[in-house]
Amino acid sequence: MASMRPTETAAWTALATHHAAIKDRHLRELFAEDAARAEKFSAEGAGLFLDYSKNRITDETVRLLIDLARARDVEGRRDAMFRGEKINETERRAVLHVALRAPRGTRIEVDGQDVVPDVHVVLDRMASFAREIRTGTWKGYTGKRIRNVINIGIGGSYLGPEMACLALREFSDKGMNFRFVSNVDGANFTAATDGLDPAQTLFIISSKTFTTLETMTNAATARRWIVAGLGADHAVARHFVAVSTNAEGVSKFGIDPARMFGFWDWVGGRYSMDSAIGLSSMIAIGPERFEEMLAGFHDMDEHFRTAPPERNLPMLMGLLTVWYNNFFGAETLGIMPYAAPLARFPAYLQQLQMESNGKHVALDASRVAWQTGPIIWGEPGTDGQHSFYQLIHQGTKLIPCDLIGFCERLSPLAAQHDLLMANLFAQAEALAFGKTKEELKAEGSPDFQTPFRVTEGNRPTNLILADRLDPRTLGSLVALYEHSVFTQGTIWAIDSFDQWGVELGKALAQRIIPELAAEAEPATGHDSSTNALIARYRGRRGW
Ligand code: F6P
Repeated sequence: MASMRPTETAAWTALATHHAAIKDRHLRELFAEDAARAEKFSAEGAGLFLDYSKNRITDETVRLLIDLARARDVEGRRDAMFRGEKINETERRAVLHVALRAPRGTRIEVDGQDVVPDVHVVLDRMASFAREIRTGTWKGYTGKRIRNVINIGIGGSYLGPEMACLALREFSDKGMNFRFVSNVDGANFTAATDGLDPAQTLFIISSKTFTTLETMTNAATARRWIVAGLGADHAVARHFVAVSTNAEGVSKFGIDPARMFGFWDWVGGRYSMDSAIGLSSMIAIGPERFEEMLAGFHDMDEHFRTAPPERNLPMLMGLLTVWYNNFFGAETLGIMPYAAPLARFPAYLQQLQMESNGKHVALDASRVAWQTGPIIWGEPGTDGQHSFYQLIHQGTKLIPCDLIGFCERLSPLAAQHDLLMANLFAQAEALAFGKTKEELKAEGSPDFQTPFRVTEGNRPTNLILADRLDPRTLGSLVALYEHSVFTQGTIWAIDSFDQWGVELGKALAQRIIPELAAEAEPATGHDSSTNALIARYRGRRGW
């Protein structure tokens, strides 16, 4: 049994000593010393190539990080997850997103029951529904075919489908519109339905619990929009389907359970884009492409399960995050995809990582005495270069970044792809090596300006390179981060699969909702700030 406290392991102490010894070493020196560095610190798996040589590490760092992984039994806990053990301890649940992409015939048990056949029953139902929509066999209430699909859901029931919809647009049915409503702000619903014909619109109500305030509110608004637009209550049956684990809630809402696509409590919301939550993605790209995406996920699962730690991409990336987070004191991790279609990938990873590893209580119920999950943020390159990269290059904070690129272009504009990739490689190079005073002087930089132009370098990056942004690669990429998050959470001895921290805000909102009603007494039960803000809002909202 791994020690509950990572900081008490010999590996942690050794890493702290090692960090003190190498923290001031520059990537310039490290590269100059070792001609084989790029080759040594790169690994490949599931269609992804990872160059991690521009990290502030030596052979010794990697060896010690792997010792830490062993001390925390990352491999043992990984195997327990794949076996269906209840490693989500605070909710007493199995964690089996890997079963969502297990090929037919694989056996994965939860409480003695093989769950893989159920996964495929749902996938098959999704596939036939997706085909009906894509071919126009499924008609709306007035007999018109469906052209617009609107996913109503939030968090894990939204971010993955929206991210995939953008990322895989090239593979999507261009004759259809895919839109997303997540926010309880009515402006979101209004914009998403703007210009759409209700007769051609299908709503997918996606909610694991089918109780989430935002989703239930928007679903009710959507029902009113359909009924008003088509003039009949029973139009709802042809324009709504649900994705949920809560059959009772779905049927109470008025959606026939035959039109519900289920999943299970062992799928966390933020790990669910490859479950029925991916129905909008499947309608967009078709069942065959969706299957390719699942194969990509599975490729990475197999890589994570079988590759030795020193060649295991998710383990290496998870360990490097621990290295900067816990030893260098880095607070954030930047995610910069050099691919415009991955514009929402950073937002997707924010939930995946921050809801998973933003925890302050260890699995032994004690408060952690070490840092846990970093702040995740990012924007596509090259946009970010003209915005916040200045701070990464010359600011006072250490910001490790993952840079992601693809060798093949998706657009017909070949020359622009070279420009994009040149920028990707240039940024990794500039961040690592910078430019010295001497180099600037030799280039003729005026003395008064030189100090301001120096870029120190020694800014670490991982560079993930894949051949092509297609469904299979996207699956591998998402699974890479899922398992990196798992590795980090295991090192930190936290439960990466609960999210108790979101509950308080939800409960307080429920208390404030009636206090905003026109006829309510002025709120007095909160702190003076909250009471005054509620009063000010009520006085000024304009209705
Ligand atoms: O509030 C957080 C959360 O529970 C996420 O974990 C989840 O992905 C999201 O809300 C949506 O939940 P549901 O799918 O149950 O509507």
